[in-house]
Amino acid sequence: MLAAADCAWHGSGGPVTLRDVTKSEAKKRIATLAREIQEHDRRYYALDRPTIADSAYDALFRELSELEARYPDLRPPDSPTLRVGGAMREGFRKVRHVAPMLSLDSLMDEAEVREFDARVLRALEVDHATYRVEPKFDGLSIELVYEDGLFMRGSTRGDGETGEDVTENLRTLRAIPLRLHEPASQRAGASTAGTVSVRGEALMLLTEFEALNRRLVEAGDEPFASPRNSAAGTIRQLDPSITASRNLDFYAYEVRGSVESTLATQTEAAETLASWGFHLDASARTVTGIDEAVAYHAEVESRRERLPFEIDGIVIKLDRRDWQRGLGERSRSPRWAVAFKFPPRIEVTRVLDIAVQVGRTGKLTPVAMLDPVNVSGVTVARATLHNQDELDRKDVRVGDTVRIRRAGDVIPEVVEVLVEQRPKGTKPFQLPSKCPVCGARVEREGAYHLCTNGLSCPAQLEGHLEHFVSRGAMDIAGLGSKTVRQLLEKRLVRDIADLYALTPIDLAGLEGFAEKSIENLMAALEGSR
Ligand code: IVH
Repeated sequence: MLAAADCAWHGSGGPVTLRDVTKSEAKKRIATLAREIQEHDRRYYALDRPTIADSAYDALFRELSELEARYPDLRPPDSPTLRVGGAMREGFRKVRHVAPMLSLDSLMDEAEVREFDARVLRALEVDHATYRVEPKFDGLSIELVYEDGLFMRGSTRGDGETGEDVTENLRTLRAIPLRLHEPASQRAGASTAGTVSVRGEALMLLTEFEALNRRLVEAGDEPFASPRNSAAGTIRQLDPSITASRNLDFYAYEVRGSVESTLATQTEAAETLASWGFHLDASARTVTGIDEAVAYHAEVESRRERLPFEIDGIVIKLDRRDWQRGLGERSRSPRWAVAFKFPPRIEVTRVLDIAVQVGRTGKLTPVAMLDPVNVSGVTVARATLHNQDELDRKDVRVGDTVRIRRAGDVIPEVVEVLVEQRPKGTKPFQLPSKCPVCGARVEREGAYHLCTNGLSCPAQLEGHLEHFVSRGAMDIAGLGSKTVRQLLEKRLVRDIADLYALTPIDLAGLEGFAEKSIENLMAALEGSR
């Protein structure tokens, strides 16, 4: 059972202030949270179709853990905090793991990470520790079992104790050695004799994920919501030839079993895995003190968009394995390692409205107006729906709950609708037959709907002017989109030629223009003539 002190381990930043919760309120809340988490586990593990963001799930889990730590006698006997993983799908044989596959506590901010370090140092009575830091791969965790170097079986994490036997599917992955490589200059400590368990993450490279989704859509099938979901769906195929066709990768991060007693540190474990022929991420390293681990987090996050696969944070592990054993484990996760997550880039929110934007070329673009939501530090209130075909495929409707994704600088997009949360009485959305800006006729050309009014459509004119003055075209300094809009609103400009008829007096009437800026813009216009 969790001791009350475990509460502090999770940090203080939960959604509830425990001080304010009475015991009877806690009882109700615990029951609600347990039920909700069980349902989310089922959707995540058994259906591969989560309906809330990881961050929201973590918040629920943390709130429940904290309440249960405060009132241990209220913990339900089937509480989700009592086990490691989730439900299993029918169809695969169940196998017991060589040792339980644990989960990691997710920490969201630096203060919590420093608290973790302080706690480790206090428990070990030392003044600094060496950590192994690596990316936290966002795939599917897998155990591979080798007997005397030969691949015998592989399984999913399942509930942590037992998983699904997916050996035949895993055999098709090139990144999984069927026989462990024994280098000529093998250190004595890295023997492959006996039973060895290698843990790692099966994942799908982003290029492969995009190509797979394109193929699925072309064949009229449902695309996957994320590379993680597609990796999970690919591993849990009943037909290994499908797994083989999808090029999954595998990154190893942990080794257990007979070789274990000879590995003094996590660093040695990583070196051993690499020598055996497994992929390890090149950025992983061994650092001294928590400052360097925090710096590694920032460094990896800054490179996140350029990685060929998705990661959702870093993992910080105490390097010395004797110290790991000294600290031990809680029911679900070790005390010697944590995940220091990145802000998620996928979130779940609601579509308040669907607006139609008219661009420079007259193209109508449907845009989902969202209940604003924070996606990795940026507030997202709109997401593109691309065109009518995309809209039809995803069937996004006003009132829907949707999953949205932000990737780098790309415009946020709606990934999919959570159809089971759709309110009654919604209707599919159709782009209008008349331009929403000028009222002219709209024509369909392939995937696109186009306003037929040319530069007589104010929206097309605005896009056209913005393009004309932009850096890529005439590069007229001091003439941004705000100014273009004002010029159109005040009817000072009706076409491009009008720009060159502007006078200082016209500009003086615009917001944000004073003597110097007027002079500069007049000069810039003159220069571009
Ligand atoms: S170590 C006891 N290292 O994250 C140590 N896990 O939330 C447990 N994961 O189930 C795992 N990258 O599937 C470790 N570099 C990494 C990882 C990693 C991804 C996954 C793993 C685990 C989950 C925990």
